[in-house]
Amino acid sequence: MLLDELRAHANAERDLRKLVGNDHARAEALALPIGELWLDLSKQPLTMGLLDSAAAHADSLGLREALDDLFAGRIVNPSENRPALHPLLRAPSPPPHLEAQHRAMRQTRQQMAALADRLAGDGISVLINLGIGGSDLGPKLAYEALRHQALPDRELRFVANVDGAALETALVGVDPKQCAFVLASKSFGTQETRINAASAQRWMAEHGLSPAQIGARLVALTAKPDAARAFGVRDDHILAFDEAIGGRYSLWSAIGFPLVFVLGSTAFETLLAGAAQLDRHVREQPWQRNGAFLLALTELLHRVGYRYPAQSVVAYDERLARLPEYLQQLVMESNGKSIGIDGSPLTVPAAPVIWGGVGTSVQHAFFQSLHQGTDIVPVTFVAARVPDHRWRDHHPALLANLAAQSAALMRGRSFEEALGQESDPSDPAAIARARQRVFAGNRPSTTIIVERLTPAALGTLVALYEHQVYLVGRLLGINSFDQWGVELGKELCGEYLPLLSDPSAALPASIDASTLALLRRLRA
Ligand code: F6P
Repeated sequence: MLLDELRAHANAERDLRKLVGNDHARAEALALPIGELWLDLSKQPLTMGLLDSAAAHADSLGLREALDDLFAGRIVNPSENRPALHPLLRAPSPPPHLEAQHRAMRQTRQQMAALADRLAGDGISVLINLGIGGSDLGPKLAYEALRHQALPDRELRFVANVDGAALETALVGVDPKQCAFVLASKSFGTQETRINAASAQRWMAEHGLSPAQIGARLVALTAKPDAARAFGVRDDHILAFDEAIGGRYSLWSAIGFPLVFVLGSTAFETLLAGAAQLDRHVREQPWQRNGAFLLALTELLHRVGYRYPAQSVVAYDERLARLPEYLQQLVMESNGKSIGIDGSPLTVPAAPVIWGGVGTSVQHAFFQSLHQGTDIVPVTFVAARVPDHRWRDHHPALLANLAAQSAALMRGRSFEEALGQESDPSDPAAIARARQRVFAGNRPSTTIIVERLTPAALGTLVALYEHQVYLVGRLLGINSFDQWGVELGKELCGEYLPLLSDPSAALPASIDASTLALLRRLRA
């Protein structure tokens, strides 16, 4: 069993420092060029022997067939009886039986380009995306990452939360005549998005826009065109996508419309092409040189082998500030499960907690704990080798920090080294201080360097993680494409909302004492 082998590998207590040492061949073998990306796993506790036997396990566990199922559009989401068609959205040429769907996807992209041009031609310069989860995080990540390439006089704003403060902030300084609202919702039933959409309509009316002008400023991106129509969105403003595109995998679909508006359709196609390049990579590369598989293996080694509870993602690029939250949804909503695909409880831990931030800023916040905390948290560092701003002399400092942090996590500092830095090593205070300046080291990290932060590089990066998540899911026996864990809270919210909207409504005795007290407090 692969998982048993990972446990045994972890129990062998390898020291990264020894593993890395002067082994240049290993460093080279564990650094993969993938399109515009360079994925470096050499600071992970991986050995060539582990890679070879994991590759054999992957074959015998049917991982190639699992990828074939995904790319062939076979059912990989059995609880919803659906395939997962996000790779088809970016496939240069589809398998013959998916040609009709592929053609429809291409047509939608043409509609996206035409509608973006029409809106711009009508004087719209700001799009406000009203959507949450996968209908927000992907476009927001890509916009902030690629904003330096935005077309002149075009801007995006995002409102996800039902908190009115989010809408209020997004509307600051916006001229109602020059803005349009994008209602992004696969289900078109999400409470937050529907409330924000209704408020946006009201705001336009309050600013004197006629029903026709309001209609001209609403666009729907959805898998439920009928629901969008019923909400009052014009037919030619509805961009549809397939039910088989999961929310957190929907960046490549009509959900990417705001990006087409702000970056142009060529940039959007390039984003898709970057993802397609990774699709080819994951299908064609042997497991030992397969970036998505090696990331999946590393995650399982950390989670199942070493039982590390969390992973941190630190982007040394302000433009990738949204990457940690994007990956939070991708990883934790996909694989944050304790029941397997066959309904039986998992016997191993699944998705880690994903958190992170932007370097170097977070070096002055949580890195203390990464270096000396009691939990080991593997880190992924991400950066662009070449910047796109004029402050060129900043960049070596940024990249030196990245290199220093991953080396420091691995190397650590021994008591003897710390004591050696003291002027009087026999002084008891110096000895006590030296003990506190010890870094255990041997802490793993992954580094991803893109040449430049281009649409293609971003597409490759996001697709790399999508496939990692799928491969982890298959190896753990998880369905990575459903999310039943979000249902209960939504149901209870449906129960409590009328009780908070109308403070005179009777509070049902069936509600537990703690929640009842909370509701009373909120009503007061
Ligand atoms: O709450 C979970 C979820 O269903 C996500 O999976 C999804 O991305 C998000 O809500 C938004 O859903 P929709 O696009 O249907 O509004």
